Amino acid sequence: MSDRQAFIQKYQKNLAYKDEELRKRAEARGVSVLSDEIGEFLGFYLKNKSIKEVVEIGSGYAYSTKLLHILLPEANIVSLERHAPRYEIAKTLLNHPKVEFILGDGQSYLNQREKAIDLLFLDGSKPHYCFFLQEALPLMKKGSFLIADNIFGRGFSYNKESEKRHGTLQRRMATFLDLAFKEFNATLLPLDDGLLIGEKK
Ligand SMILES: C[S@@+](CC[C@H](N)C(=O)[O-])C[C@H]1O[C@@H](n2cnc3c(N)ncnc32)[C@H](O)[C@@H]1O
Repeated sequence: MSDRQAFIQKYQKNLAYKDEELRKRAEARGVSVLSDEIGEFLGFYLKNKSIKEVVEIGSGYAYSTKLLHILLPEANIVSLERHAPRYEIAKTLLNHPKVEFILGDGQSYLNQREKAIDLLFLDGSKPHYCFFLQEALPLMKKGSFLIADNIFGRGFSYNKESEKRHGTLQRRMATFLDLAFKEFNATLLPLDDGLLIGEKK
């Protein structure tokens, strides 16, 4: 460990959940997992927030779902996963009455949902963030939270060289960010692969 890492670790006190085995298991199957850097930040940011209803798009191996559940134990969490085998695994990894995993597309779910959302956590398909947000907006009141991971898309969201191949991603991510910054007091943090956080205006 470098001196820098050791120094940072000494003062990072908010990482509520870490499971290296699960991280490796998920990543070995091509499912990326919320970084510790972001976990640390969320541990600080979400502490003591009055959040009752959470919708997460993209359960993967339920790593981020577990973190959200630990940070917000009183909240009802609905987590969407469109990949059936991952949905089955997620269910076995976190079994709690406050957490519901749903097999299906996040956009369709949000379109049908009637209950208000206090925190929308986006970690599904990046080119669909703009559609997720459009569907969720009518359910979000002033002060509701938006958190979206992987805004940089490992560089594909902004690299000029990848414009031709990833033009759709770049356009849609720009649409998402324009909408997010219009509707939320928001900021884009250069943590890991880019994290957007916002509170509804
Ligand atoms: C990066 S992984 C999620 C990782 C997880 N949030 C974590 O940190 O542990 C993204 C997941 O979103 C799922 N996904 C992508 N688009 C989706 C959609 N439109 N609806 C539901 N799930 C989606 C993928 O199948 C994949 O398992």
